[in-house]
Amino acid sequence: MKSFASLLIAAALAAPALAFAQAHGAAPAASAPAAAPAAQQAAAKPDAAEGEKRFTAVCAACHGADGNSGVPANPKLAQQHPEYIVKQLQEFKAGKRQSPVMQGFASQLSDQDMKNIAAFVTKNKAKPGFAKDKDLVATGERIYRGGVPDRQIAACAACHSPNGAGIPAQYPRLSGQHADYVAAQLVAFRDGGRKNSPQMTDVAAKLNDREIKAVADYIAGLR
Ligand code: HEC
Ligand code: HEC
Repeated sequence: MKSFASLLIAAALAAPALAFAQAHGAAPAASAPAAAPAAQQAAAKPDAAEGEKRFTAVCAACHGADGNSGVPANPKLAQQHPEYIVKQLQEFKAGKRQSPVMQGFASQLSDQDMKNIAAFVTKNKAKPGFAKDKDLVATGERIYRGGVPDRQIAACAACHSPNGAGIPAQYPRLSGQHADYVAAQLVAFRDGGRKNSPQMTDVAAKLNDREIKAVADYIAGLR
């Protein structure tokens, strides 16, 4: 619908140029290039309604109808920054972030599909989660807020913000994410299974298993 409408607009914009060109004896074809960039620009705008259709048909089974997955191994996507979602999908597609499950789904998506889907999930509110491990949550909070200074482990809050909302475009949102998923990603960054972020490889390299479990549990309850 939308691209059809934008074609009409482009055609309407092109019409006076065409009339002008014809009046001055130029070939009508001369006006065509003027219409093309306008149509392309309109098509490149993310379309959340298109994104919702695609998401509902393919992705919702694992990530939840609104992007709030109920399965601990499948990440919540709701309210995530669109730039981060697009980056991950591009990297799954290219094999830069490895996931046998996601590579297949991402390779079916064009850049425009990715932008559309990201525009849909980002506007849904993330469902808050809960920390479960009373003994570990204090350790998790300490690491999240202050890092581990004597081992040069940076505070997570410095990049992901104190409440875990992240910093749009640059640092992803973490708050409320499933602890199992977060722990699995930290282990993957540390052990080389996920190599798409030198910054996170650096951070995770020095975390031991207990610290990973603690900070993942804290993040699940963060809001
Ligand atoms: C069969 C289940 C399944 C389906 C269907 C699925 N995903 Fe995933 N998705 C996963 C799993 C599991 C992961 C975690 C991969 C990993 O371990 O790195 C994931 C990860 C992601 C991530 C990375 C999130 C983050 O926080 O880094 C994005 C984005 C994503 N999926 C989007 C989609 C989109 C868009 C679709 C539909 C086109 C889709 N997924 C379909 C299971 C699925
Ligand atoms: C120097 C900045 C920085 C610091 C400090 C940092 N992160 Fe990150 N983190 C990032 C960036 C950038 C990404 C996005 C990586 C990508 O693009 O794939 C990320 C991604 C992540 C992810 C993956 C999110 C997802 O949905 O898959 C997790 C989990 C994570 N960080 C946890 C942490 C934890 C826990 C700490 C503290 C121990 C921490 N980060 C400290 C920059 C940082």
